[in-house]
Amino acid sequence: MSFVKPLIRSMELEDLDEVLEVEKSCFKIPWTRLMFEDELINSNAYYYVIEVDKRIVGYVGFWKIIDEAHITNVAIHNDYRRLGYGRALINALLNKAKELEIIAVTLEVRVSNLAAISLYERFGFVSSGVRRGYYSDNNEDALIMWLKL
Ligand SMILES: CC(C)(COP(=O)(O)OP(=O)(O)OC[C@H]1O[C@@H](n2cnc3c(N)ncnc32)[C@H](O)[C@@H]1OP(=O)(O)O)[C@@H](O)C(=O)NCCC(=O)NCCS
Repeated sequence: MSFVKPLIRSMELEDLDEVLEVEKSCFKIPWTRLMFEDELINSNAYYYVIEVDKRIVGYVGFWKIIDEAHITNVAIHNDYRRLGYGRALINALLNKAKELEIIAVTLEVRVSNLAAISLYERFGFVSSGVRRGYYSDNNEDALIMWLKL
């Protein structure tokens, strides 16, 4: 598969069937429809999907908390990885964050998730600590990462 110019736009309720497909291809414990519905009515939450040839292949979300952005998740369908779409989503998120006058962006990531850690590091995120046993499914630690804008 090769890179096709994607479309990045706000996530809508009508997108959730496809978003849930992405979610299932990415996580052992996927978010449910209800969880996404809750996010979409949260006025401090910003969610975007990335479409390739009219198919949703990924999404990203963050919460605006005062002047910080907390990334809640980023996911690219298993069939569309390593094509630059994850990078395109983070880029769009950072542009939106700047528009909202956000001064710093943070997230938690599993210490074993080298793909995601590498993606974030490419944007200049740095590790600032560890939350021990943060993930209850396997008691895995979370790396806390920050990017100052
Ligand atoms: C993390 C994820 C979003 C990356 O999406 P992607 O579209 O494949 O990433 P990109 O193609 O934009 O890659 C950008 C950079 O990220 C890093 N990266 C991505 N996948 C990687 C991998 N498997 N191994 C190492 N580095 C990787 C590389 O630095 C890459 O740059 P390069 O291709 O020039 O080397 C994707 O792997 C994913 O959805 N994983 C499952 C869900 C998940 O773990 N989300 C993060 C939760 S915190």
